[in-house]
Formats: sequence, structure tokens, C-alpha cells
Amino acid sequence: MKGQALFCYVNGKRRDLPSESAELTLLEFLRDEGLTGTKLGCGEGVCGSCTVMISESFEGKLRHRSVNACLFPLYAADGKHVVTVEGIGSLRSGLHPVQQRLATLHGSQCGFCTPGFVMAMYALLRATGGRPSEQQIRDNLAGNLCRCTGYRPIVDAFKVFAQVPANAYTNDSIQAQQPSPESSNAAAHAAENGFPGPKEPTQQQQLPAKKICPSTGQPCDCNGAASPTNHRNAKGNSFGVQHSSTGTKASADEGTMDLVTCSEPVFPAELRSYQPQDLRLPGPTCTWLRPVTLESLLETRKKYPEARLVAGHNEVGIERKYNQTTPSMLISICSIPELNHIQTGAEEVWVGAAVTLTSLMDLCSHLISSRPAHEIRCFNTLRNQLHHFSGNQVRNTATVGGNIMNASPISDINAIMMAAGAVYELASAGGHRSRIAPEHFLIGYRKVKLQAGQILLGISIPFTAKYEYVSEYKQSHKRDDFLAVGNAAFCVSLEPETEGWHLKEAKVALGGVAPFTQLASRAAAAMRGQSWSQSTLNNTLQAISADITETSESTGWKLDVHKAAVASFLFRFFMSVSAELEAEVPGSAPLFGPADQPGIPADLPFDGLSKGWQHFPVAAPEAVVGHSHMHMAARSQTTGEAMFAGDIKLVGMQHAVLVTSTRARAKILSVNASNALNMKGISGFFDAKAMRGEGSNTSASVASGLHHQQQHNYNNAAGHMKQDEEVFASSEVHTVGQVIGIITAETERQARAAAKAVQVEYEDLPSIVSIQDAIAAGSFFDGPENKVERGKVEEWLSKCDRVLEGSVVVGGQEHFYLEPQVSVVQPQENDELVIHASTQAATAYQHDIARSLGLPSHKVVCHVKRVGGAFGGKETRFIPVTAAAAVAAREINRPLRIALDRHEDMAITGHRHPFFIKYKVGFNKDGKVVAMDAEAFSNGGWCLDMSQAVIGKALLHADNAYRVPHMCFTGRICRTNTASNTSMRGLGGPQIMLAIESIMDRVAAELQLAPEHVRSLNMYREGEKAVCGQGVEAGQLRACWDQVLETSGFEERAGEVARFNQGSRWRKRGISTVPVKFGIGFAGKFMNQGGALVHIYMDGTVLVTTGGIEMGQGLHTKCCMVAAQELGIPLDKVHIAETATDKVPNTSPSAASASSDLYCMAVIDACSQLKGRLAPFRRPKSDAQQNGDAEARPPSFAEAVQAAYQALVDLSAHGFHAITQLTGPGGDMPFKYWTYGAAATEVELDVLTGTHRVIRADIVMDLGQPLNPAIDIGQIEGAYVQGMGMTCKEELVWGDAEHSWLPRGHLQTRGPGSYMIPTADDIPDDLRVTLLEDQPGRIASLSPPDCHSRRQNGRSGGEDRPPALVHSSKNSGEPPFFLGASAFFALKQAVYAARRDAGLPAWVQLDSPASTERVRMACSDHLTPKGALMPPICN
Ligand SMILES: Cc1cc2nc3c(=O)[nH]c(=O)nc-3n(C[C@H](O)[C@H](O)[C@H](O)COP(=O)(O)OP(=O)(O)OC[C@H]3O[C@@H](n4cnc5c(N)ncnc54)[C@H](O)[C@@H]3O)c2cc1C
Ligand code: FES
Ligand code: FES
Repeated sequence: MKGQALFCYVNGKRRDLPSESAELTLLEFLRDEGLTGTKLGCGEGVCGSCTVMISESFEGKLRHRSVNACLFPLYAADGKHVVTVEGIGSLRSGLHPVQQRLATLHGSQCGFCTPGFVMAMYALLRATGGRPSEQQIRDNLAGNLCRCTGYRPIVDAFKVFAQVPANAYTNDSIQAQQPSPESSNAAAHAAENGFPGPKEPTQQQQLPAKKICPSTGQPCDCNGAASPTNHRNAKGNSFGVQHSSTGTKASADEGTMDLVTCSEPVFPAELRSYQPQDLRLPGPTCTWLRPVTLESLLETRKKYPEARLVAGHNEVGIERKYNQTTPSMLISICSIPELNHIQTGAEEVWVGAAVTLTSLMDLCSHLISSRPAHEIRCFNTLRNQLHHFSGNQVRNTATVGGNIMNASPISDINAIMMAAGAVYELASAGGHRSRIAPEHFLIGYRKVKLQAGQILLGISIPFTAKYEYVSEYKQSHKRDDFLAVGNAAFCVSLEPETEGWHLKEAKVALGGVAPFTQLASRAAAAMRGQSWSQSTLNNTLQAISADITETSESTGWKLDVHKAAVASFLFRFFMSVSAELEAEVPGSAPLFGPADQPGIPADLPFDGLSKGWQHFPVAAPEAVVGHSHMHMAARSQTTGEAMFAGDIKLVGMQHAVLVTSTRARAKILSVNASNALNMKGISGFFDAKAMRGEGSNTSASVASGLHHQQQHNYNNAAGHMKQDEEVFASSEVHTVGQVIGIITAETERQARAAAKAVQVEYEDLPSIVSIQDAIAAGSFFDGPENKVERGKVEEWLSKCDRVLEGSVVVGGQEHFYLEPQVSVVQPQENDELVIHASTQAATAYQHDIARSLGLPSHKVVCHVKRVGGAFGGKETRFIPVTAAAAVAAREINRPLRIALDRHEDMAITGHRHPFFIKYKVGFNKDGKVVAMDAEAFSNGGWCLDMSQAVIGKALLHADNAYRVPHMCFTGRICRTNTASNTSMRGLGGPQIMLAIESIMDRVAAELQLAPEHVRSLNMYREGEKAVCGQGVEAGQLRACWDQVLETSGFEERAGEVARFNQGSRWRKRGISTVPVKFGIGFAGKFMNQGGALVHIYMDGTVLVTTGGIEMGQGLHTKCCMVAAQELGIPLDKVHIAETATDKVPNTSPSAASASSDLYCMAVIDACSQLKGRLAPFRRPKSDAQQNGDAEARPPSFAEAVQAAYQALVDLSAHGFHAITQLTGPGGDMPFKYWTYGAAATEVELDVLTGTHRVIRADIVMDLGQPLNPAIDIGQIEGAYVQGMGMTCKEELVWGDAEHSWLPRGHLQTRGPGSYMIPTADDIPDDLRVTLLEDQPGRIASLSPPDCHSRRQNGRSGGEDRPPALVHSSKNSGEPPFFLGASAFFALKQAVYAARRDAGLPAWVQLDSPASTERVRMACSDHLTPKGALMPPICN
């Protein structure tokens, strides 16, 4: 077995796999090979950024499957073809249709997630042998996360590949869904790979066209249009309508693109005949064994009982990541034929342990379609469960055996197998076989009854008998979430009686309520031998509650919540079996009324991919601005060619890993890195001593010449706004994750291992984790008073009709940019330092790191090419970490890369601030809110960072859209021992706006008025000023509000919701509308400035550089558009370079929705200077004019440039824009302007689980005349979904008094497996966005009178007025975020409806996020334990 070389093919090229590298993942290998299109987003199989396709010859056929390269062991790729995003298309060879669709349909913003989506879709096309169904596309999207787009454009882009039911749409729309010629071409190329070309049109497809919109299903004149249709509204203005169901052309640039791919990788001939051989590959840390026969496997197992078996490596991979260890020996079992075998017998089906979940699903589907209905009930429920089991990437590799052996308390397979009476078959060397029932096999937390040398061979799953019913239910944090918090499987055998049914046998298995899946014996006993009746149900409900005596701590759920969940499962099981029995014998099981429908949203039949439309103003055809130009980097993002900071590889580059605090608060007694320094590849360890110049922290390799010899002048004090941090903790740590030291090494893997070996001794000190702790201890940051105030609050609180007191709790939110924080620091000659960073604040990096290093700023340059999402999280929190790396880099005198992994990033870089708000509100009987006194407490974490700015900006938004005449709102920042919280989209605004909206909601509930009535009644009117003192354009606010009510058909739909709720007890709907008024600009006056540098080259092309950062929001595209417009040249003549502090200095962070206003204006300024200089050269020659000859043609731009150059004209200009008029907080103009909007959202709640789906959302925003409608709508949709995530789903869980099983101050939710951001499945089924029609000239009138800018050009609306807004546009980054809260308030309405049915008062406090468990407990009914409290927000 020894000495064999492993190989695979990568994108058609043969590659030998490195020896002694069994610990490597495929992702590490690919990225080392320079294939950096495959990204590392999470490393735990959830985000899909690392998706590649694996093709192999399997059981005589070609098998294509998407896999997560981050969990795929490199050596498992032996003999396979790995296709990465670089392998299917490139800018040079042409884009693959999947790449092309995603780029042109605006499905790529920051682009970090993009290659993963491309490869997931591509692999699906290949795996389905043609065009997948819409449902397959939807399921496939579950394996990939995107934080920028809100998914709608991605769904649109992929829809075109779906094989839709022929009768779904009309002829026209079907034609529109045919793949483009390019995709047919690609398909033809791929035929050899088992990917047939497009199918012939079916008979239905040739039906005559009807004018039914494929998007809305309603009569419409869009006729399945292949481009945004232009409409004229009543005022004759031009509007674009883009329907989203057909995946139509949506980019202004599509026609100009080179789309055809000719690089479809063909399956290598060598691999067709590849036969795996027994292998034993020893390595220094891990030995890889691959037996290929069962006998050899069992012998190997016997010989090495301690070795770890590996099947799909999902669980082993995650464990390795969490523990940062690799087992010393791995035995791969995937090549054993017996373990991949499936055999269908008369009474049962035998499934080999290495069968993947995808194959198991296929098996279920086959049995369901080929066996009698009563036999396949277990397979039915199994398929249903597997359907919600992560994405295809996981199902394609995870195995049945891996799931069972993992013995997780929430395993979906173990619960159902236990209830259904399956049997597990075990094998060991010498031909020994035994069979065991799951309930005897599972014996403890992740413990099974397996002897040394035994393996799980397979499982036998019985067919169900005539009246035998099996179901499994799982409770997750969200509807389509993969990981259960709890699950339960039920199996009952019935026989008919004279009247009704007799329960012969019953079995119940519960997961998540104990350390391992267990039988609920009391519940089964309560059913066995009884009749199928209400009283049996009631008795079983009681019994099952007694079965649950503990919960599995890993789920993070309280006992009460588990009890409610399990009772609800049982209730649902009774409902569904009763329905089946009724179908067998009508009237035989009348346990439930017509309103008791057992539907759970996840089980609702799939009714198509999410759809929507966008309605926006259309610019004049000749203009560059105002059109939906594609994001300029979209194409390179889809091909993986777009470079991110983490992709940079420099000669001699070393890798850094942090040593961080494991205590919430403690004295550091000692730090000992001697073991670490002796490990292989380590070049140094640096901590606070290095800052003081004490001793050498470096290893032997430093002595051999790496050390930076010069005297340092380091400064350990850090912090952007206030220097209350340290680069390295010197004597005390104030939070888990605080940086104590940094290890440098040749590889990241070596650095991680060494960081783990650094020993730190602590003496624990008392710590504060939650806001409540901080209030009790009086732990606040000092600072200026934070207050907004008007009127006479005390007086009017005593004069109004009613007064209520209450509180609003808003949890924090993780930014979850897909690209974790990363910097590369490069020491250079003469003490210069170059930083390549993924940051939104290049100047802050430059200055703060210069300060830490004791260097002048002119020696430090920060470069930012692009950022893979930021949302505020990449402003300040990574600066001290990069400073630590810069110190280390200078000490070892090498380029150094520091990249946080997802866990570190989430644990240490801070989040959106959690808020606790206490209020007293006075109102009159008509719903008019008269007075309000409120106090907000934010959790700032351990150091101040941006917290002052956050509370300040929050208070400026405390009134949102409402005039409360007497109002006082104060704010305090709590100092705690959690990670320091930082800026995040909206900077405190969304949290505080949730408070006033909750107050409106509560007033409405108290008075039994419609919330929309109360909101409208209190909304600002023309001429009124916001509480911060700035005037409100109430007309625009109202226009958004009125229009959203009208276009959403709010009134009518509210009636339908009420009717639906009357007829449905366990599914409730809610609909709600909220407005937003959001201030644009930095509250810090001095930050409202921006610069640009524009060069014109002799060939007439233009290079723009600005101080703004491209992080997906389309800033670069907009800057190029305004440059092209200003100079009067086509967009493709303009290019934009990376941001660098040596090009444009002293930049403000790209934040506060201010960037396009500042930088586009600066670009316009530079371009208008250049235009002025070029003007003399653009006129026709005067003598030619006089002669009237052809020379009268004005020179082209390039000719004019040449002539100007010859005439010694400077063709480079610096542009600048500043807004000097803003007052900052406390003045009457803290913002440049307000952006207004409103959203109406309808949701459907599954009362029994607390999960919901969003049926439809309508959004209206006032963006003036949008600069680029597609980009602006992309921002709106992405922000809406992120806002929905904040309020309805995303929850941070900390170790505190409520979660005492977690170490104090530790964040449990450190990855996407435990912290759920919205997925494609969470978005509204129907999402409609309208950009409000603008009044010509209105925007210009908003100009602050003395802003430094020159003329604006070319668009209707204000050219003749002093300009302030770029081409009369408004910014879209932050304002729409809060509109996602409309889903939260709709959910509340649904909860109120459920409570009314339960005979309870409708209103209940529901904290944000409205997680499934919180919603379930808020609904309160006979299935929730009496007096149970809602789980609190933990921070
Ligand atoms: C993103 C993600 C989503 C997930 N979602 C779900 C979900 O919705 N529901 C759920 O239940 N689980 C879920 N899981 C867990 C998942 O079930 C397991 O990770 C997976 O099934 C394990 O299969 P594997 O082949 O990858 O196992 P591996 O990681 O290869 O092995 C797991 C364990 O089983 C042992 N083992 C494997 N095969 C055998 C055998 N034949 N005999 C003896 N020992 C063996 C291994 O030694 C190892 O200890 C998820 C995991 C991920 C990463
Ligand atoms: S990086 Fe592999 S799934 Fe996230
Ligand atoms: S575009 Fe998807 S994460 Fe940024």
C-alpha cells in the first residue's frame, strides 16, 4: 500500500497531490495552487463560498456533485476531476452562461459569495443532466449564503435554467425562459460530460400566447418581456418595470458582452478507467489509509482501533476545525462497494453506511413512485427531512453512517430510524456481523455501542404496514433551517374498530431533549392499546411532558420551550394521522375541526421560486447616469478573477494567528510561548513586551536573519475614536477574544497549532456581560450627554388620556460579511509599510497603524482593491489586530498575512449594539401620541470604539417618521466585558426606530385601532421638524407611505388576512406597514468630505481613483458613470483603480450612506476641471468651419486629448467635495438630507413551531433620480433582507446568567451553523420595489447652500440650481434597512391573532429578534407550559 502517488485533475489538468499532507483540505490545496476563486467564508460547510464540482466515475457512470471544498479532504480527491470557478469561464475565454446570468442580472455585489453560487448552480446543471426543476434550484440555493443582495437577483439569474412545468406560463414567457444560444452552445460542448442539450419544446410550449405575467400570474402588458419594459405614467414620465420571474435582461451593458464560453471542462479520459487501490500514506501529523475492500477495511480497523473512520468528512472536518487538531490516522471508507450498496427486499430496504444523503433521497423518491402508498410512509418522511438537511453540497458528501455514528442528540436520521423500527448492522474482522436497534445503539452524548474494531455496515429500514403511520418533525431556528433544535419521530400502528380506531402499537423518539436521541416511553405507553381519540391525545400530551426532564444544553433551549415544541409535534402528528384516517374511513377520526390544519410552512407545497418586480424612473437614452449598468467588477467576480486582500500572495509571506483571551475579565499572570516557538515553521511570537522593547519573542529562525534590526518606537495604546484599547493586552484582559499575542509562521496551519500551544495564566476578576448587569453595577462609559428633546414631557404625560410604560429589547447583530477580516502587511525599505486590507476605512488604517508603529503617516500606505462585504464591521475593529500584525511583520521583516477565521471574526470584532429601551408614553383616545419619555441603554462592550457615534446617531432617529410633540429620549452606553460593539448599517438607527414603532404598535393594540391608522395619524406633516431639529419633507414621506399602501393593496389584503385567520387556528397571517426617515451623512461634521483623482491618458481613456471603498455597494460603478457622463464619453472608456491612501489622502470611511454623494461629487469636480481644460480642443477647427468642409466635425474625445497633450495641458485633476453646512448633533442640520421609504409585508406564521414565511413585501423608496436603478434596488433588497434578519431571526447567544452552561462572556454563536443569517428561502415569495417618482427640481432645493462642489450635469431636476445631490439622486445604503422590520411587525400581528384564538389579550411584548422559540412562546396556548416565560434576549 505504500509509496503510491495520488493525483486528481483540476479544471482538466492533471495535478499530483502533495505527499504527507493528509491533513489538508481540498480548499487549502486549491488556494495554494493559485485558484483563489474558491473562497473560505466559514470553514464549516454552511456558506458555500468554497463550492467546487467533483466529477468521478461512480458505479460505471459519471457522477457530478457540488461539494464544500473547505470540508473535503484533499486525499479524497484522488482519481477525481475537480472543477473550480476558474474552470468554466473567464474574462478572456468567455463567461459560462451561469456566470453571465449572475453578472447581468445584478446577482453579484461584493462578489465574495459569487463563485460559490456559480459553482453550486453549475454543478446542479451537470448533476441533473440538463435543466433542473425550480424546486431543485430552490433546494440548491440552501447551500449558499449571500449577505449583500437579498438573493432576489440571484434567484432571478438562475431561474432561466429551470425546467418549468410547461403549463405554468404562457408561450411568450416560456420562450423568454429558454436558455440563451450561449447556454445551448455550452450544453453542446458538455454533451460528452453527460450534460445533454436543451430539451425540445413540449406541446404546451407551443400554445398561443396569453398576456399573463409570469411574475405575478396576473394579466399584464409586460408579455414576458426580455428587457425592462418602459411605461409612461399618468404624468407622462418614463418608468421602467422589471419583472423578476423570467430572469430577463436587466443590465444596460448586456448587449455589449462577450458571453460565449468555450472552456467547458471535459471529463478526463484517464479518470474513466481509474480504479482506487488500497493506500497507506504516512505523514508527520496524519496518516491516510484507504482500504478498498470490506475485508481490508475491517482488518485495518482491527489493527488501528484508535484510527478515525472518515466518510463524507463533514462532522470530522468541523470537529477538526473547532478543536484545531487532526486525528493522527484517518481511514477513508468511501471506496468500499458494500458500504455503498442499496438493496430493496420484500419487507425492508438495506442501505450501506457510506451511501450519501443525496443517494438516500433519490432512493426515497424512487420507492415513493414505485411502491404502494402505505409502504413508503417512512421514506416519505425521511425524504422530507432530508430535503431540509442543509444544501446539496453537504447532502452530496454526508453519509447515512456518518450521521448515525455522529450520534448527535439532534440527528434527524436516528430519531426517525428509532421510531420506525429500523435496525443497524455492525461488522468486524473475521466476518462477524450483528444487528442492533437504534435505541440500544445510542448510549450517551455522541456515544454509541460499538466494540473496538467494529464498523457500522448499513441499516435496514422496514416498509410500513397498512395502517402504520410514521412522521418526524423538527424544530429549528427557522422554517427551512437544517439543524434541529429539537426533533421528534412518531410511529403508530392502528386497526379499525367498529367505531373509530384502535392503537395497536406506538413508538416515539425524541431528539434534543437529552444528550442523545431517546424513546419517550411514557408517551408510547399512553397511546398503546388505546382508541384514537381526543382523550388519548390529551393523556399522551401529559405523558410526553413527563418524558422530557432535561434539555440538551447544546441546543441552547429552555426546558419549557422544548416541552412546547414536543407537545406541538405530537398534536400535529395526531392531526395529520387523523386526516389520513378520515380519508380511509370518513367520520372515523373526527378529532379536529376545520380550522385545525396541520400545515407547517416548511411542508407547504413548493409553489415556485421567489418572484417580484422593480419599478423605477428611466433616464434619457443618451445619458450614462440613470441606467442600470452592471456592477463594473461583476464579470470578474463571477469568474473568480476578482482579487480580494486574502488572495494576495507575496514572496516570502508569513502567516499570523492571534493568541487571545479566553476569559471575560482577568489579570494576566504569565504568558509562556516557549513550546510554540519550538514548533515547526514558527518564526516569532510577539506580545505586549514587544511594544516595550523587552526581550526577544522570536524563535530560532529570527536569529537566522529575519529580525528587523532597527530600534522601534511602538505604541501599545490603540482605539480609533478614543485610545482606551491596547494592541496587546499588557496586564489585564477585559473580554474573551482580546489580543494577547501573535504567532508568525510559514503556514497558517502551523501558526494556528502554535497559537494553541501558547500558555496564558489568568486570575479571574468579576465581569459584566449583559446590559442588565451593567445597569445594576452602574457600569457606563463617560462621555457627553446623549439626549434629544422637545416640548414639555412631564406636563403632557399628566395631561393626556392614557399613559403606558414598557420596554423594548433589541438584540445585537453580526455583520456577517462573507469575507472574514484580513490584512496583508508588507514592510519595505526606509521604514515604509504597505497594507493591503479589507477595510472600509483606509485612512483610519494608515493613521492608526502608523501611530502604533511610531511612524509618520507618510510612511504607511493602505491599499484596498475591494471588500467582500463590510456593513460597518470593517471600519475600526480590525485596526488594532492589523497593528499587531504590522509590529510582527516589522520584527520578522517579512510580508505577513493575518486572516481571521469565521469563529474568531465573530467572537472578537464586535456586532451591532444591543439596546434596551425603557419608555413611558402618553396618548389620547384617538391614537395621537402626545408625550414620550424614554431612555436607551446600548451595550458598548469592553472599549468605546464607535459606541458614542452609534448612540448619537440612534437618538437623531428616535422619532423615525412621527411627530411626538413632547418627547425626551436619552441614551447611555454600557461598559461590559463582551467584544466591543461597533458600527453596523444604520448605526443605532434601526434599534431605536424599533422602539418608537413598537410604541405605535402598542398604542394601537391598547386602543384596538389599526396600527397603520396610529402610524399615519402621528406621521410628520409638511413644515414640521424632526426631533433633532432638521426639517422633514413630509410630502415625500407621506408619498412613500400612501403609495405602498396603495400598490400593496394593503386594505384589501388586511381583510383577506383577517378572513384567513378566522378559518385557521394553527396558521396565522399578519400584515404590517412601517415607514422610514433616515438621515444621510456623517454626524461628525468634518467627515463629510471626499476626494478623487482623475487622469486622462493620451488614448482618451480615463482612470478614476477615489477615497471611497468598493464593498459591493456599487460605488466604483457609480463613480465611473458620473465621470463618463461629465466627460461625455462611453462608460467603457472609464476605469477605476483601487483605493489607496497615497492617491487620495485623508479619506473618511465609506459609511453612513455618504460615499456616493461625496465621491461622485469629487469625481464630477475633477472631471469638470478637465472638461474645462479640454474645451478649447473639442471645438471644430475654425478655418475648417469657415470652409464648410468635413473637418467641421468636432474632434473626438481622444483627438481632443491628444491635442491638449501636445499643447502641454495637464490631464490630471484632483477633485474635492465637502459639505460645510452640516451642524452635527445638537444643530438643526445634522444630516445632508433625509431618505424616506415605507414597506408593507405579509407573513404567515406556523403557530405550532413559531416559524414563518414572508408571503409578500412591497417597498417604496424615495431615491430622487437614482444614479443606477439596478444598483440602488440591489441595495434596497439587500438591506431589507438584512433588516428582516436582525428583527426576525439573527440571535447572538452569550455565556451569561441565562446561559450558564456556556463559559462566561463566551459567544456561542460564532459561525453560520449556529448564527443564522437569512437564506434564499427566507426572502419574500414576492418582493416588489418601487422607486418613487421624483418632482423635477425638488432635490436641488435640498442643497446645503455652501457645499463645495461645482456644476452637475445632464439630468432633469435641478441642473440650474446649486447642486448637492449627485444628478439629483439620493443614497440607498442604510435607509431601507429598517424596512425589514415590517416583517417583524407583521409577525406580531400574526401572534396577536393566535393569542386571540387562545382567549388571551392580543398584545404581548415580543423582543427582537422574534426567534422561532420566542414567537412560539408568545403565542401561548394549551400546548405551551402554563406560566412559561419567553426566552429573554441574552444581551
Ligand atoms: C452544514 C451542515 C449541515 C448539517 N445538517 C444536518 C441536519 O440537518 N440534520 C442532521 O441530522 N445532521 C446535520 N449535519 C450533521 C451531518 O449529519 C453529519 O455531519 C453527516 O451526516 C456526517 O456524515 P459524514 O459522512 O460527513 O460523516 P463523517 O464526518 O465522515 O463521520 C462522522 C463520524 O462517523 C464516523 N463514521 C462514519 N461512518 C462510519 C461507519 N460506517 N462506521 C463507524 N463509524 C463511522 C466517523 O468516524 C466520525 O466519527 C450537518 C452537518 C453540516 C456540516
Ligand atoms: S467556506 Fe466552505 S462552506 Fe463556508
Ligand atoms: S455579493 Fe453575496 S455576499 Fe456580497
